[in-house]
Amino acid sequence: MKTLSSYHDATVYLNGEFVPANEAKISIFDRGFVFGDGVYEVIPVYNGKLFRLKQHLERLDHSLINIRIAPPLSHDKWEQRLTTLIAKNLSNNTKEQSLYIQITRGVAPRDHKFPEKTPATIVAVSHPFTVVDPNLLTQGAAAITMEDLRWKCCNIKSISLLANILARQQALDSHADEALFLRDNHLTEGAASNVFIVENRSIITPPKSAELLPGITRDLVLELAAKNNIAHLEERISLQRAQQADEIWLTSSTKEIIPVTVLDDKSVANGQPGPLWARMLTLYQAFIHQ
Ligand code: PDD
Repeated sequence: MKTLSSYHDATVYLNGEFVPANEAKISIFDRGFVFGDGVYEVIPVYNGKLFRLKQHLERLDHSLINIRIAPPLSHDKWEQRLTTLIAKNLSNNTKEQSLYIQITRGVAPRDHKFPEKTPATIVAVSHPFTVVDPNLLTQGAAAITMEDLRWKCCNIKSISLLANILARQQALDSHADEALFLRDNHLTEGAASNVFIVENRSIITPPKSAELLPGITRDLVLELAAKNNIAHLEERISLQRAQQADEIWLTSSTKEIIPVTVLDDKSVANGQPGPLWARMLTLYQAFIHQ
């Protein structure tokens, strides 16, 4: 269980300095707080090393450029600072962490127009990786579907996550684990995950577009499929198609690959995690630990 006090013991990176979390302070006029005006990344750390750092930093730059914040650090500088941060927070019993980066448009009087000459606020926090609930791997997850009420720039990793957290909470309130969004009756992604289905031994995921976040885990799953001669397609997935799928998976940096065995209260195929999911998770974990 993550407690606030365990977060408070950590060292965080704030605007160029490493400080104890309980001493790190941000103004109430920060535009991240006032407007949700910022972007973020979540990067897993395995065995003390940042996983897929290049891909995460490229996506971060893409998010920043899309919201017209100049990327404040080069990739080399990011790597130095994040590596230092991880080392400071690495404990003997866990070498796995989840690293969170947030960049906002900085501190300024509340006004919708961009402030001039205001430096971005840069925060990075790392804490021990929360191990995926083993029940999700043995029994699978339950998902519910719902209309995607988000904006049309879901490829930007925006900190404005109100629709996502409302959707996730609605899933939890219905005793499910994740909400899957639908646009025009097609699956886009989960509240905090990408989605795959399996049909006739092929894995299928919706193509990249402004309707979904280009997940780093999603891309790696497709890469591993290609390397291992597993048929894979990027295609739109109607709700009916998902209901008839042999398997459904969720992917994310913190949950890796999770099988969905219940969709809207009905079993997915035989209601058990599927064989292709088990194979892909093995390939994924072998890749992590190579
Ligand atoms: N979110 N789609 C959404 C909306 C997400 O929030 C996430 C991950 C993903 C998967 O992306 P990736 O494989 O790069 O983690 C897809 C992170 C983990 C979070 O918000 O905590």
